[in-house]
Amino acid sequence: MHKFQPVRGTKDLFAAEILLFDFIIKTASKAAQTYNFEKLQTPIFEFSEVFERNLGETSDIVTKEVYRFKDRSDNNLTLRPEFTAAIVRALVSNSELLQVLPKKFFSYGPVFRYDRPQKGRARQFHQINFEIFGAENAICDVEAIILANSILQSLGVDKKITLQINSLGDLETKKAYETALFNYFNQKKSSLSADSINRLEKNPLRILDSKSPQDIEMFDSAPKISDFYSSQAKKRFTEILQILTTFSLDFVVNERLVRGLDYYSSTVFEFIYAHEGAQNALLAGGRYDGLVEKFCGKKVPAFGFAAGIERLMLLCDLEIKAHKKIAVIYVSENERFVAFEISQMLRKSGLDVDFAFDESFKKQMKKASQAGVSFAVIIGEEEVKNKIAAVKNFFSGEEQKIAFEKLSEWLA
Ligand code: HAM
Repeated sequence: MHKFQPVRGTKDLFAAEILLFDFIIKTASKAAQTYNFEKLQTPIFEFSEVFERNLGETSDIVTKEVYRFKDRSDNNLTLRPEFTAAIVRALVSNSELLQVLPKKFFSYGPVFRYDRPQKGRARQFHQINFEIFGAENAICDVEAIILANSILQSLGVDKKITLQINSLGDLETKKAYETALFNYFNQKKSSLSADSINRLEKNPLRILDSKSPQDIEMFDSAPKISDFYSSQAKKRFTEILQILTTFSLDFVVNERLVRGLDYYSSTVFEFIYAHEGAQNALLAGGRYDGLVEKFCGKKVPAFGFAAGIERLMLLCDLEIKAHKKIAVIYVSENERFVAFEISQMLRKSGLDVDFAFDESFKKQMKKASQAGVSFAVIIGEEEVKNKIAAVKNFFSGEEQKIAFEKLSEWLA
């Protein structure tokens, strides 16, 4: 029955899972508001070059993971594997967005990567994504990391994670470091994995992102980026670490943290959690000062991060209760229409109301008590005659008589 299964790496969400999913979005949206981020929504697919030219031609995402297809007009399109490049494209397409800087954007939604499915790794997953454009100061980097941390705290997952941070320095640093890495790995070329041999000429930094054990063995004696920092880059990174310490954020400097996407420069960071012996990133991002310029020639410094909602769900133990509703219940079908009218009256006044279309009184009451309804408004023959409903409180078990015209106010 292959046809009736969801596609590998995708999933249907319902019941407790969707409540948690929505709660995560609500938590992130609230944080976005607190830190003055505007909501920005981009299409789910873009012209393929948006991602191919900007995420890195040797990145796993571009080489192995994008869902790329041709539409009926022969356009090459790609389902977004992340938000950042799509958001920069949106800024360039809508120039009014870049007129007053700095500007902050919050987005969330599905992203697609042909990854190897396992726990916390899907092919369609969802990200919450934050980007700041037009700010270069070290406080910008720190503010974003503090915001990320506060979301993780609100979800109660902050005790399960470690903040790893690194700086890729500036252009000068990156160039010098790439040359040193090339020289180092080139000497050991015969022991490198096939992927890393391919990366050697094109982007030796990316080798440090390899998960292949034969590559990892060589990392310990590889050149260290901190030996290549320009004085500016070193000063900036030290300042960031100092401010993080001032705000009591614990971190570990990981010099091997280079991130899997090419657009980063300067600060990069990941909140990591341990899972089945491996380390996974829960939330990650960094500075990418050159990306906007690559799209439109305009120099706009930028910083951002994203977290996978499914990974947050994996770590989050909060039990989210469904919103409590009201059920309007008819004793027999003679009262059904009046009960429906009352449901509509309550809905119009903003209350959340369940109404059964065609069920016995017993079944309606059973369903209401199982569904975690807080009040049942019961309409029988007497109630219709006197225009007074019997309202049952499911928490206390008490029943009260409330006149139809007072019901909305009383229940609200
Ligand atoms: P990323 O590290 O590729 O960065 O992904 C960010 C987060 O998405 C990861 O930390 C993880 O939680 C989640 N994630 C990645 N792949 C999967 C997967 N296959 N299944 C489930 N969750 C996954 C970016 O996407 C950058 N655009 C972040 C950024 C924003 N940098 C600057 N601004």
